[in-house]
Amino acid sequence: MKSQRPHSGKDVISTARMMFVTSSIGGVVLIAAVASSFNLNSFDQLDAAKKSADKRIVIKNLVVPAGKKLDLTNLQDGTVIEFTGRVTFGYLEWDGTLIQIKGKNIRVEGKPGNLLDGEGHRWWDKLGGNGGKKKPRFIDVNLEDSLVTGLNIKNPPRHCFKAERCKNVRIEHVNIDVKDGDTKGAHNTDGFGVGASQNVTVANCKVHNQDDCFCIGSGIDTVFENNVCTGGHGISIGSMGNGKKVERVRVRNCKIIKNTNGIRIKSRSGETGLVKDVSFENVELVDITRFGIIIQANYFNSGPKGDPTPFPMENIVIKNVRGTVSKKGTNIQVWVAPGSAKNWQWNSSVTGGQKELPCKGVPQGVNIRCGKK
Ligand SMILES: *[C@@H]1O[C@H](CO)[C@@H](O)[C@H](O)[C@H]1NC(C)=O
Ligand SMILES: *[C@@H]1O[C@H](CO)[C@@H](O)[C@H](O)[C@H]1NC(C)=O
Repeated sequence: MKSQRPHSGKDVISTARMMFVTSSIGGVVLIAAVASSFNLNSFDQLDAAKKSADKRIVIKNLVVPAGKKLDLTNLQDGTVIEFTGRVTFGYLEWDGTLIQIKGKNIRVEGKPGNLLDGEGHRWWDKLGGNGGKKKPRFIDVNLEDSLVTGLNIKNPPRHCFKAERCKNVRIEHVNIDVKDGDTKGAHNTDGFGVGASQNVTVANCKVHNQDDCFCIGSGIDTVFENNVCTGGHGISIGSMGNGKKVERVRVRNCKIIKNTNGIRIKSRSGETGLVKDVSFENVELVDITRFGIIIQANYFNSGPKGDPTPFPMENIVIKNVRGTVSKKGTNIQVWVAPGSAKNWQWNSSVTGGQKELPCKGVPQGVNIRCGKK
């Protein structure tokens, strides 16, 4: 026998692996098999949900207790997780992660109207991860051969969506809305962060936040396409260091609106690592406040630090990156050590910024319109 938990929803004949829903159209009786599911609406049932033979967990209007993680690790291969209704979290100052999802061949699906509501204003104090209240991260995924689609995420306390140690994962139609944080003190609310992963695609997503829209620190074969970023710090490779490598990144068909930066590649002085085979193609910039495009090898949180040291940045393509920077900003700056940049192709049209900064370390033969032209 199965557990005694109630099934909600349609009348059903069987609750074994499948529900059989019958209906009659024009005298023909149809019997459709519909996957049955474990309805997780009480946090106590989490372990049972993960073990359920249904392999389909419907998370509806769940309240996650303060200081607890919605721990969706140890999932059975092939599990489907559906979010529906509004999921909320109790308040505690802690360093944890509010949701973790780990597994193979997993499908995570947000149903229409779903909301993962971090109610981050309870933690926001303008300091983000740099101090003040301890703030949990929002979602961590460690997935293989999996899909994440349709999630609506609102007001994370700090970093929002981290994909780490993932392989063959597509993340699509995710809406990260931290607009409230613009006026209520959110900081370090990074949208998507990808690290140590292979073949991760983030597509058709929206991010309105107060830090990087998308950031990658290591990994190969990453795609970020058809996304709209508003309010944050732009699309970033790095900051690179600690010997980490980023290879084969394609950013294309994106729009970046009122971010501090449009696109950037950054490494820290004195560090080792590699950035190779990276392209930014058809990226539109709108009213960027600081740098339209910046590639620098002397990145430091509070501003460039010292002269850049050699850091290989090879096969970089900037193609049809276009748009506007506001008056006080800089359209384009490149500041890398001589010889670090190899095999760049550059075609951009970024205008409006009046703050002129020189480019240094641009490879021979590459024509970049630095300054305020
Ligand atoms: C990359 O991941 C996607 C799933 O997002 C998969 O369909 C595709 O086959 C993977 N590519 C390779 C080369 O494994
Ligand atoms: C640069 O891009 C523009 C518009 O996207 C195009 O018209 C132009 O031919 C390109 N130039 C080069 C050198 O590729």
